[in-house]
Amino acid sequence: MPSKRSTSSSSKKSNDALTLLKADHDKVKKMFKEFERLNNDESDEECEQLAKQICNELKIHTTIEEEIFYPEARSAIEDDDLLDEAEVEHASAKELIEQIESTSSADEKFAAKVSVLGEYVNHHIKEEQDEMFPQCKKAKMDLQGIGEKLMQRKQELMSEMGMDSEEGEEAGEAATGGARRSSSRGGQASRAGR
Ligand SMILES: [Fe+2]
Ligand SMILES: [Fe+2]
Repeated sequence: MPSKRSTSSSSKKSNDALTLLKADHDKVKKMFKEFERLNNDESDEECEQLAKQICNELKIHTTIEEEIFYPEARSAIEDDDLLDEAEVEHASAKELIEQIESTSSADEKFAAKVSVLGEYVNHHIKEEQDEMFPQCKKAKMDLQGIGEKLMQRKQELMSEMGMDSEEGEEAGEAATGGARRSSSRGGQASRAGR
């Protein structure tokens, strides 16, 4: 039996699209938890700052998904309903984000709006990770290539929005460091299974 040689270079950081998107998901989930904690301590200013950060993270994340990941997923997995739903969920999340951005923590519904956004986003993340991502894996999308595009676009958006990227350095490293592509992966291009 010919053993499938999967000499995956374990030294390389995983920058595939799904890993990257999941890292965003984890980050934002943590931020929502942190918001609940701060909110209980009634530190208004910090709450407001964190809420704005959450909104920025989400705007960037939804943008890179809509511009890059969803179109790729739509053509690869052929489940239009799933993608339509995801896009509609993004649209309603954005409405809530706009509301949060245009109010301050002095608004008595401010915390409620952030909490609802958190519930909403958690639900959306779950659907992506439990339904969409497994289908993307099966569909043999070029997750590495898409991951690089996502990363680049994310950095662009972050600098447009004047956000510091503590992650930016890491991301930049990943984007350029990937150039060390050895020639040892022959033969896979020619059989893109359909
Ligand atoms: Fe999404
Ligand atoms: Fe997502």
